[in-house]
Amino acid sequence: MITRDDALALDAADPLASFRDRFHIPNPSVVYLDGNSLGMPPKRTLERISEIYHHDWATDLIRSWDHWVDMPQRVGDVLAPLIGAHPGEVVVHDTTTLNVYQLVHGAIGLNPGRTVIAISEHDFPTDRYVVDGIAEALGYTVRHGFDRLDDVAVVVRSVIDYRTAELVDVKAETARAHAAGALVVWDLSHAVGAIEIDLHDCGAQLAIGCSYKFLNGGPGAPAWTYVAKELQASIRQPIWGWFATEDQFAMGPEFRPRADIARMLLGTPTIMALAAAEVGIALSAEAGMRAIHTKGSALTGFAIDLCDQLGLATPTPRDPARRGNHVAIEHPQAKAVVKELAASDILFDFREPNIIRAGCSPLTTRFVDVYDGLAALPRP
Ligand SMILES: Cc1ncc(COP(=O)(O)O)c(C=O)c1O
Repeated sequence: MITRDDALALDAADPLASFRDRFHIPNPSVVYLDGNSLGMPPKRTLERISEIYHHDWATDLIRSWDHWVDMPQRVGDVLAPLIGAHPGEVVVHDTTTLNVYQLVHGAIGLNPGRTVIAISEHDFPTDRYVVDGIAEALGYTVRHGFDRLDDVAVVVRSVIDYRTAELVDVKAETARAHAAGALVVWDLSHAVGAIEIDLHDCGAQLAIGCSYKFLNGGPGAPAWTYVAKELQASIRQPIWGWFATEDQFAMGPEFRPRADIARMLLGTPTIMALAAAEVGIALSAEAGMRAIHTKGSALTGFAIDLCDQLGLATPTPRDPARRGNHVAIEHPQAKAVVKELAASDILFDFREPNIIRAGCSPLTTRFVDVYDGLAALPRP
């Protein structure tokens, strides 16, 4: 029998517990189990935005562009170790949706002669819609599922299922796709800042993700693009903006893509949002992905055990090696329950058709939050 005291004991022994003090907590009684949608605000974020406002913008004015101009690359280098990328392989910019669009186009260009894009019909909607749109524009075919890859140009795939939290074997699936002659664009939105992953060890060459979930980058925080060094000179992207061109300020007659990761950029970066994102990313880097992943597995394991105790059904894998940092709970009144509990400061989220997601953000979620949140769910 798991008790609330067990949760408190786990919190007392948690080596990451002090990180919660680095975040703004709206009130001590809030139970926040939705960091998988929107991470909590680091206290430092507000200071950093204020510094950028008062010092860089209000005082130094346009001169600040001397160090703002390459901020997408600099913040990318802060993020790189969280995903096993090398310096110079990640840029933080624009939105996940846009970055999927760019990278799928880029991958298609690298794999001419094939006209099939493979994606799961259960993947996150924006990824599916972008793929459908590209296929329609180029006359490509979309195939749902990954069983057959021998005629596929590009596989587009989330590392962690946004509903069930099931984690794909990225290394095995990348190798299988490459052996079949397909490239893979991985979506790490639910993986970055949640699980320890080494994209180089997995052989992954192309990836995107967001920074507003487990990275605590802020609402609408810029997303990121990873392109492995070996593809950077040859990948072409479909939106030719001046931040991606060589000798940007020469204002030349034609677009000549830069030789490095910055060729994935578009136009003027969102400096305030980037500064905020950097704070969240740096906090995960400070805690370290090994410790974050270990606590995430413990939190989700605790949540699954509680589900069993409370008679709540979960499709989330029981093997910690096969799951990300949320637990999906099937409930016939999922939508109404999530809405009702939100009114009493217990925050989950809902996904169609009947899923309550309990997000476990290792830097902010306590075991007692998991306990109180799940205990508040009505038995189906
Ligand atoms: C897997 C995945 N891809 C993409 C997105 C969203 O894309 P965007 O950041 O452009 O809204 C989400 C949002 O939750 C997501 O879970």
